[in-house]
Amino acid sequence: MRHYSTDRIDLRSDTVTQPTPEMREAMHTAAVGDDVLGDDPTVNQLENRIAQMCGKEAALFVPSGTMANAIALRCHTSPGDEIITANNSHIYIYEGGGYAALCGASIALVDVHGGLMRPEDVQNAIRKQAGSLSHYPDGTLVCVENTSNRGGGACYPQHTLDEIAAVAKANDCAVHMDGARVFNAAVATSTPLDRMVRDYDSISICLSKGLGAPIGSLLVGSTSFIAQAHRWRKMFGGGMRQAGMLAAAGLHALDHHVERMAEDHARAMRLATSINGLDGYAVDLETVETNMVYFESNLKATEVMKALSDSGIDVLDIGPNTCRIVLHLHVTDEDVNQVIQTFESFS
Ligand SMILES: Cc1ncc(COP(=O)(O)O)c(C=O)c1O
Repeated sequence: MRHYSTDRIDLRSDTVTQPTPEMREAMHTAAVGDDVLGDDPTVNQLENRIAQMCGKEAALFVPSGTMANAIALRCHTSPGDEIITANNSHIYIYEGGGYAALCGASIALVDVHGGLMRPEDVQNAIRKQAGSLSHYPDGTLVCVENTSNRGGGACYPQHTLDEIAAVAKANDCAVHMDGARVFNAAVATSTPLDRMVRDYDSISICLSKGLGAPIGSLLVGSTSFIAQAHRWRKMFGGGMRQAGMLAAAGLHALDHHVERMAEDHARAMRLATSINGLDGYAVDLETVETNMVYFESNLKATEVMKALSDSGIDVLDIGPNTCRIVLHLHVTDEDVNQVIQTFESFS
């Protein structure tokens, strides 16, 4: 369903969603206060709710997923430390090198298989200063992205999440989950959120992606971690005043937009299967578990993007021959039919 007028089908990202009329109403009527002073009741409600859903003690509302990750990285590391994460991770590729600029940390990159890290590769990537005659940086933080964006929206199996957390703990590392799309993972794998993140010290969660809120992310963890995060949020300039209007959108999304993600996942699979069946196009169907479809084409990605755009369909080019499609709240079955017909007309 779309609540705004457009003649385009926008599949570039799930961040393009606009607040529904019901969400706008919830925002309009939200009770607010000064959240920097700790007295916005709606922000407090959202933070408590998400902490409870994750089975953790506390949460902090921040403007973006990038800031939630940056604060987590800053809390868990000291300058000269090393962060261990996937070579396709958002933290490494798309956050402006914040790990280096804001934390003074280096990154040890882990290869991925089907978009995801393997526990043994995480183990092999951890370097410790101790015992290295101070040659190595100190690997102190492991970051796992679930779902994996550049991994095609793939979800980590629960045993892998648990094993990676165990590897981190055994090596005296903290473990953070970039859960920008953790609700997609929870819905796709039918895993309760608290079980999924049980062994993780911190989790960042975006409200402004598949959940359909306009702005906002949450960082979740222990009381002492969130107290530290509160200080870094201040220093990064992320404290917001009457943020309850935004938190109300998040609360509305948690009430109304979680279970429906299964529809996005089903549409993604329908699209992926159709595109993969066409001459000159390929999709790794193994990775299509949630709302994303990465497809390869014989044509240049920019040419495919242009041809689709001329037909009113927007996608993102990700590599020389790779484009990304993301399903979300505003994409209907009719839209998916139209996209499939357009692809068929190309081949
Ligand atoms: C996996 C992942 N983490 C973090 C982010 C950052 O979120 P934001 O755009 O709100 O900064 C994104 C954004 O697309 C993402 O895909």
